[in-house]
Amino acid sequence: MTQSFTPRPLVIAPSILASDFSKLGEEVRAVDQAGADWIHLDVMDGHFVPNISYGPDVIKAMRPHTKKIFDAHLMISPCDPYLEAFAKAGCDHITVHAEAGPHLHRSLQAIRALGKKAGVSINPATPVSAIECVLDLIDLVLVMSVNPGFGGQAFIRSAIGKISDVRAMTAGRPIDIEVDGGVAPDVAGQLAAAGANAFVAGSAVFKGGTVEAYKTNIAAIRNAAAAARGEAI
Ligand code: DX5
Ligand code: ZN
Repeated sequence: MTQSFTPRPLVIAPSILASDFSKLGEEVRAVDQAGADWIHLDVMDGHFVPNISYGPDVIKAMRPHTKKIFDAHLMISPCDPYLEAFAKAGCDHITVHAEAGPHLHRSLQAIRALGKKAGVSINPATPVSAIECVLDLIDLVLVMSVNPGFGGQAFIRSAIGKISDVRAMTAGRPIDIEVDGGVAPDVAGQLAAAGANAFVAGSAVFKGGTVEAYKTNIAAIRNAAAAARGEAI
C-alpha cells in the first residue's frame, strides 16, 4: 500500500443488545468499567429489520449509568420522526441506514441540526457508492458485517473489502469507520488493517457475564486491532 492515512482512534463499542436486559443499568456500568469506549445501542422496529429491541425511553433510563458516548444505531424506517427523541434521550451519535428512506440527506442534516454526530450505515448487500453523496454530512460510516436484526450471526467476509473502499473514499476526512456484526478477536486484526477504527461487538463482549469477563473480552478485541495498526498493546 502506498497511500497513507491518519488513523482515527481505536474504539471498542459493546452492543447492549447482547446484555442481560433485566439489569440494563448494571450492564452499562459493567462494560464502562471493563474498558468500553462507546456504548452501542441497537434500535430495531420490526419493520426495517425482523426484530424489535428498545427505543428512546429505555436509552434515557440507561443514560445516567455512564458518561461514555452513546452510539445509537437506528434500524428503523422511517427514522426522521424519531430523531429528536433519540437526541433528547442522550444519544451522542445517531446512525441511520442508507436503505431506510429516500431522503438520506434530510435525515443526516436533521441529526446535525440536533447537535449530534451523524452516521450512515450500509447493509452487506449495499454498495459503498451509496454513501458517496453524503460525505460532507457524516461523522461516521457503519459497515454492517451481518444483515441487521440479530446478535450472534456469522461474520460476512466481504465487509473487509468494503471497509478498504470506505477508507479510500473518506481519506483525509474526520470520519470514523465502524464495523458491526460477528466481530471478535479473530477478525478484528483484518478489519483494522482494512481501515476500521471502531469495533462493535455484542456476543464477543458479553460472553461470560461478569465485569472480569467483559474486561478480558474487550481487551482481546482491542489488542488484535491495535497489533494490526502497529500500536503498542
Ligand atoms: C445487529 C446489530 C449488532 C449486533 C452485534 O443487527 O446491529 O450491533 O448486536 O452483535 P454480535 O456482535 O453478536 O454480532
Ligand atoms: Zn448495531
